[in-house]
Amino acid sequence: MVEKPTRGTKIQGWFAGGEDGTGLAHSLRHDPGALSLGVDDEAEHEDKGEAEDDEAFDEADEVVTEVANATSTWDRPRKGILKITGQGTISVKADSTVGFHIEVQTVDSTNPTFYLDVTQDECYFSDGGLPTADGGTLSSSARVEFGEAYVTYPKGKDAAKLSEGQGPYKHWLSIDLVNGVLRYGRGYCTASLVLLQAALKKKEDMTLVYVDKWWEWVKGLQHVIVKQTGGRQLTDMVIDPFPLVRDLPPYVVKDQDITLDDLESGVVTVVANLPAASQVLYRNVAGPKIVLDTPDFPEFSQAIERNVRNEGLVGYELLRKKAANHGGKLAGAYLRITIGTNLGNSPGIPYVLEIWPSGHQSPNHDHGDSFAVIKVLHGQINAYYFDSLQSPGPNQQGPPATLKKDDVTWISNDSYQVHQLRNESDQLCCTIQCYQYGQDDTQHYEGFRFSEDGKPVSAGAKPFLPDSDMAFGEFKKAIKKEWYAYQLERMR
Ligand SMILES: [Fe+2]
Repeated sequence: MVEKPTRGTKIQGWFAGGEDGTGLAHSLRHDPGALSLGVDDEAEHEDKGEAEDDEAFDEADEVVTEVANATSTWDRPRKGILKITGQGTISVKADSTVGFHIEVQTVDSTNPTFYLDVTQDECYFSDGGLPTADGGTLSSSARVEFGEAYVTYPKGKDAAKLSEGQGPYKHWLSIDLVNGVLRYGRGYCTASLVLLQAALKKKEDMTLVYVDKWWEWVKGLQHVIVKQTGGRQLTDMVIDPFPLVRDLPPYVVKDQDITLDDLESGVVTVVANLPAASQVLYRNVAGPKIVLDTPDFPEFSQAIERNVRNEGLVGYELLRKKAANHGGKLAGAYLRITIGTNLGNSPGIPYVLEIWPSGHQSPNHDHGDSFAVIKVLHGQINAYYFDSLQSPGPNQQGPPATLKKDDVTWISNDSYQVHQLRNESDQLCCTIQCYQYGQDDTQHYEGFRFSEDGKPVSAGAKPFLPDSDMAFGEFKKAIKKEWYAYQLERMR
């Protein structure tokens, strides 16, 4: 096997990368049109507008359909275009655990092409010439690997490699033009799950400049080709026009409450920054009149507290029944009181009042890739976040978010998707959650997968189907009835 050259400080370009690289560079400089780009004609040259981008995607979709029963998609790649030259986030689901590959070619074909390769032995970025004359991928020995001066593996080199028996995974590559950062990760597209990162810029005075001017070619990255080895399907390919720079925080504050300090620290966000589906949900439940204690029943929260603490009352008995169905631990049960009907765009009924007695908690669970907004109506709750329900997860990500009365948090298909809610306070907590599938979600996966005792979820594990313990109207009536009976009794 030929050794891959590494881009260190001495190497100033892929032209100096080695025998193959030198020869290729030479032919390109003298006859740039001599090699095929390996991209469909429609996607071959400069950006010709959105319609043609879509065409390129459509064609790629057809290709995947054709090869659904083939043994490998290596020769049948998915293709696309970065709508903003030099930046964006590419994500795609791949079912191979053997090899995954992305190449991004530049607008000016005399410039290098960027490569990402992930196998069970390695995970690295490299650059080199265009694909071979017949449209195949340039061999790794003809490319130059990004050297240690540029790359980091935030979770260690081994974590970035593929593992037999894991997956299928969503792979993603973020190309951050402004900050000069390339990031690769698997699973949810969040900064906490970056596996390989290259920083090509440094700060000079107050300006970010390329560490070496040579890297300026990355500004022209545009044509995307994705391949895998040994898998059957590359699906759900999405190219977002923006890179992943930093995660939005879980806390959403009202527009009138955000401050200059908040803008700088990024510890809270406003609804306008959330994905479209989350914005819709926020507008439905974050209003000032979404409260428990209303003029018709001002003691509602107090009455629920009493109800879930006392044997024989509706709330307590519902909890006991649920606990019996889920292993017997009362503290592992919480009530789901559904509001309204299923509109066909959410896992279960979209609005749910959840009742969390002191000390009770949910298991670690995901949300079927749906979007959600949660508002605390009474008390407080801690939200713990995890990387994935699949092995090697679930691993906790960062500290928990403590959410108090009137606080609002959010979940998207990529952000905060796996969580556990724990009422670690000494009083009742009530929250309203609302759910919606994303616009691009054609699967509408109805189940929430959950982890038993913090263990990874196995492939065949049964999901939790978000059901209802009682309808809101019926629940409120029952609590009210018992509360007034209790008041009468006290007056006697
Ligand atoms: Fe949840």
